[in-house]
Amino acid sequence: MEVHGDTRRQYVEFAADAVPDSPCFAEWARGVADDPEVLAWLERLPVPKRQPNLVFAAARWHDVPAPGPYAGLRRALLADDGGIEATIRGRATQTNEVGRLATLLPAFDLLEATGPIALVEVGPSAGLCLYPDRYDYAWATDAGTVRLRGPGAGRPELTCRVDGPAPLPTALPEVAHRTGVDLNPLDVTDPDQMAWLANLVWPEDDGRRAQLVRAVGVARADPPRLLRGDLLTELPALVDAAAAYGTVVVFHSAVIAYLDDDDRARFASMMTGLVAEGRCRWVSNEAPRVLPGVTGLGPAMPPDVRGFVLGVDGRAVAWTHGHGRWLRWLA
Ligand SMILES: C[S@@+](CC[C@H](N)C(=O)[O-])C[C@H]1O[C@@H](n2cnc3c(N)ncnc32)[C@H](O)[C@@H]1O
Repeated sequence: MEVHGDTRRQYVEFAADAVPDSPCFAEWARGVADDPEVLAWLERLPVPKRQPNLVFAAARWHDVPAPGPYAGLRRALLADDGGIEATIRGRATQTNEVGRLATLLPAFDLLEATGPIALVEVGPSAGLCLYPDRYDYAWATDAGTVRLRGPGAGRPELTCRVDGPAPLPTALPEVAHRTGVDLNPLDVTDPDQMAWLANLVWPEDDGRRAQLVRAVGVARADPPRLLRGDLLTELPALVDAAAAYGTVVVFHSAVIAYLDDDDRARFASMMTGLVAEGRCRWVSNEAPRVLPGVTGLGPAMPPDVRGFVLGVDGRAVAWTHGHGRWLRWLA
């Protein structure tokens, strides 16, 4: 996911990423990439609004069938009376994927925090990833499935394929504080906002849609306090306020890609400074080009691996599937 890149290239790359999980979106993205008329339609939009996830979600919001043929999307965009464009301009891709927790939890565990942790999520969307302690986990390894269960029955379980020497946690973290900062925090009690979140789940992915419903239920039982604002200005104060609750862990997943290159560099430098000053720990989970300083401290990701780089305090420790389906720990 590279929201600041050339439009055609974004669609070509998105098509490659989507192949295993959404044949429909892969076909739509290939269709757009090869369609000068639709590319011209998109290029009237601000650059961050041209991204496939947002355009496709807006089309579905206006009843373009998905799964369905590319012709349906093409017709709807070129004949749009302003409704789809208004949705693209007015909403954002805020996909909140709780499945990512199965890849983040080993990174939280690696911090070896003594006592409780205070989670500060950068770009939390609705904050669904702020509840790592409220899920059970099943990590499938070559040696069998490693399970981690919390107290009580009926807890949702997150599953993930794991390769490499991942230090899989044997205990759930004790989370004493959950907060975050987002340009547009979503409210788990607002039906329209949760319907938009569900609409962002890819068409064929019934499993993720069902998981989203469970995750919204978990968060609704104890809604998170999320600050509206820009991560670059609000984060240091949030970090300092969280320190009263335990070891502060700043984390983010699929967020820094939304910043331009200068702001990505500012963010990386701010995080490096906060960690160096001992004010927090840092878990990052972003596409390889987004935080080159983190990615560069690990091996180069082969082109056939499409995933995120998981970092701990600025060091690459693993590659992860964008929705948390797999984790490859780096030696
Ligand atoms: C794709 S969502 C990811 C949500 C969540 N991190 C997850 O992994 O499920 C990206 C989120 O980043 C937020 N975001 C983007 N730029 C931001 C900024 N400069 N400051 C704060 N939040 C931002 C968006 O509003 C959106 O909610």
